[in-house]
Amino acid sequence: MGSQISIERNQNPKPKPDQSHLGFGKYFTDHMFLMDYTKEEGWHEPRIVPYAPLMLDPSAMVFHYGQAVFEGLKAYKTKNDDILLFRPDKNMERLNISNERMNIPPIDEAFLIEAIKELVRVERDWIPVAEGTSLYIRPFIIATEPCLGVRAAEQYTFIIILSPVGAYYPEGIKPIKIHVENKYVRAVRGGTGFAKTSSNYASGLKAQIDAAEHGCSQVLWLDGIEKQYIEEVGSMNVFFKIAGEVVTPALNGSILNGVTRDSIIRLLEEWDVPVTERKISMEELYLAYTNGTLEEAFGTGTAAVISPIGELQWTDKRIVVNKGEIGVISKKLYDTITRIQSGQIEDTFGWTVDV
Ligand code: COI
Repeated sequence: MGSQISIERNQNPKPKPDQSHLGFGKYFTDHMFLMDYTKEEGWHEPRIVPYAPLMLDPSAMVFHYGQAVFEGLKAYKTKNDDILLFRPDKNMERLNISNERMNIPPIDEAFLIEAIKELVRVERDWIPVAEGTSLYIRPFIIATEPCLGVRAAEQYTFIIILSPVGAYYPEGIKPIKIHVENKYVRAVRGGTGFAKTSSNYASGLKAQIDAAEHGCSQVLWLDGIEKQYIEEVGSMNVFFKIAGEVVTPALNGSILNGVTRDSIIRLLEEWDVPVTERKISMEELYLAYTNGTLEEAFGTGTAAVISPIGELQWTDKRIVVNKGEIGVISKKLYDTITRIQSGQIEDTFGWTVDV
């Protein structure tokens, strides 16, 4: 690798979308980054080209056995017109952890950050600046080798696409309703729960549809064995404030190691708010609700940022959190992290990276 990134400019740039109605992942910029892998050449030919459909053989292994991983991070434009990335090193480290689990060859993390920066520089005019918006960066890898044998592929393509986004949930920062999933499981010990691989999300869709039928926008996954212990929400990690202490499920191999999750724990520690990573059962949560000590609940993720949870539906029980309103800590965390990310307040953690 190590080679120069070539750039082919798009001669037909698209009009930019209205920043007040971006939604999530609906618009894509004018360019994308591509790089291929073969056994002989390793990762090679890094290039930025006009955004366009990919041409793949119908026997490309990703279509059949799902060998694919992805990441999600964001770029922000500051009021001085500088561009910031938020902890890209953590995302690229996790990409290689996912690669390792899915038998995809690793990629040099420093080079990946350079590739992201280069693409974001080319697309700097696409970074939205309206309140609550950012440029979502989606790096992903697919197995492209044409072969129907069940084995790890020997050819891959690494791609980065960019999407100007607003809030992930239509509710924005308003609390969402969550359905606690009792029938299906997302991950088991020894499985792929900690990896950001596409199949983890595909296998969760059925539960998400059931949740929507209950008026809920997301699923809360429980552990795959006892269906007792809380793991994560469909697209986020999850936190609860119980009797003054913030708790989140400990990373146990079946939970995604979220970058926002880690940042929230560090912020709470900085503020001297007690925060613990441990097992949390639904029984414990329900008890905390009934005895009045469940104070707040929220999800964290790159796409969702901080998403307050106003209600959980668990079997025939309803747990209403903070009267369905956003809590004090959730709001303070949202304001602080978004201001650090967009350069509005000083980043004393060294998380933001100049592009
Ligand atoms: C993210 O938060 O970046 C994610 O990847 C979650 C999701 C939209 C699948």
